[in-house]
Amino acid sequence: MELDLWLGDRRVARTTSRPGGRTVRIAYDDAIAAQYEAETPLLSCSLPTPGPSQPAKARAFLDGLLPEGRALETVAAQVRNVRLVDGAPETTADTMALLAEYGRECAGAVVVLPAGSGVPSGGRYEQLDDQALSAIVRDLPQHPIGTDLARDLRMSLAGAQPKFLLARIDGRWCEAVDGAPSTHIIKPTTAWAHSARNEALVIGLGRACGLTDHDVWTEQMGDSVVLVAERFDRRTDGSIIVRLHQEDMCQALGIRPADKYQIGRPSGRMARLLREFANSPRAEVSALFGQVAFRAVVGDEDGHGKNYSLLLDDGRVRVAPLYDSLCTLIYPELSGRMGAPIGAQVSLAKVDRAALLDEARAMGFPASEAGEALDELAAALRSGIERLDDSVVAGWPSDTVIETVLARVDRLESGQRLGGKPTKRAASSRTLDDETARRQTL
Ligand SMILES: Nc1ncnc2c1ncn2[C@@H]1O[C@H](COP(=O)(O)OP(=O)(O)OP(=O)(O)O)[C@@H](O)[C@H]1O
Ligand SMILES: [Mg+2]
Repeated sequence: MELDLWLGDRRVARTTSRPGGRTVRIAYDDAIAAQYEAETPLLSCSLPTPGPSQPAKARAFLDGLLPEGRALETVAAQVRNVRLVDGAPETTADTMALLAEYGRECAGAVVVLPAGSGVPSGGRYEQLDDQALSAIVRDLPQHPIGTDLARDLRMSLAGAQPKFLLARIDGRWCEAVDGAPSTHIIKPTTAWAHSARNEALVIGLGRACGLTDHDVWTEQMGDSVVLVAERFDRRTDGSIIVRLHQEDMCQALGIRPADKYQIGRPSGRMARLLREFANSPRAEVSALFGQVAFRAVVGDEDGHGKNYSLLLDDGRVRVAPLYDSLCTLIYPELSGRMGAPIGAQVSLAKVDRAALLDEARAMGFPASEAGEALDELAAALRSGIERLDDSVVAGWPSDTVIETVLARVDRLESGQRLGGKPTKRAASSRTLDDETARRQTL
């Protein structure tokens, strides 16, 4: 099978798998490769020009475009002959079959089409009323990411939590049909109590800390309060929505999604990658450290390799804004074990200023600057919390999240361990993904 990989409206590469074969390769078009210096990360830092790619890295990049968990199982079931093993497509042919059906709208600027299909269609938008929005939320288990092959809704996005993609056009929610770019990611509250409010609050604090300037809010859709996140990989140019390229750290490092919790210390891999590929490595390592420290201080254990991303602008690499961060400490069922260790610490409760400085040093970020960055983070979190609107602060989980974050900021400043769960209950060793999957089968 062969698929064309487009970046926006430019065909850049072709991916090929042999029938029944386990390997896949991605080869840049000759004309494209000739336009760039060798080792330019056009599609991915793991797939620099001129290629061809190492098969394992090509597979990791392509798998990284697909959903995870229950959503992946459901879309695989809807595409005949695609089998899964351990929650991942069994062969590269399976990955290709899924992308051939669902790869029209992905993370970043990637558009996947069967080879030779020609220029991707710009698609069209269909306005949704409240009833139709409720139906999308209700039907998500059968139509993950809002996909529906019969209606030409062919999109794909990573992650284990239920979600779908919409476009906001002239202030109205629309479905992005036939390959039209979406503008927002919608995550209903499902497995985790008030997760949408929790994430909106935490990302709002991330804004106060200068880690993103993209909007998030909550709204009611049908029976669910949903998180709405403005896509940082889309830009509106007049009436045209333009795709900007991004990839997650697992794709950038050639790591399969199933291994996203095995990314190792941020210093070990992600910072090295930035030093190799970023145009301003110092600034980018500092931005990455800001996100790593933010997650630790707000009590977010889920900083795995698919929750950090890179923006790739014609081969120029920067750290993408903060996304997918919430205070997981308020859920007693979770382990409090961080998706990536910080210094020698793996536990959110035990991490402290010294561990963060240790991590900074290993990332090549001088300890004096990192110390200043931590002080600025603490001050920005305090003033961000002070400025929160009363409507955001009231009730659970906001009150508990705020109390937890303020206590951790105090301990960061006094050099103590940042501390554990606000409520003492039996902890498990489950990750957010495991526990989400378990709850979806109840
Ligand atoms: N605001 C955003 N703009 C652009 N891309 C985003 C944004 N938020 C998330 N993404 C992309 O979508 C993917 C899935 O989103 P997200 O991480 O929020 O999902 P999730 O299901 O909660 O993930 P997890 O499996 O980590 O719990 C991310 O890995 C990232 O590539
Ligand atoms: Mg995520």
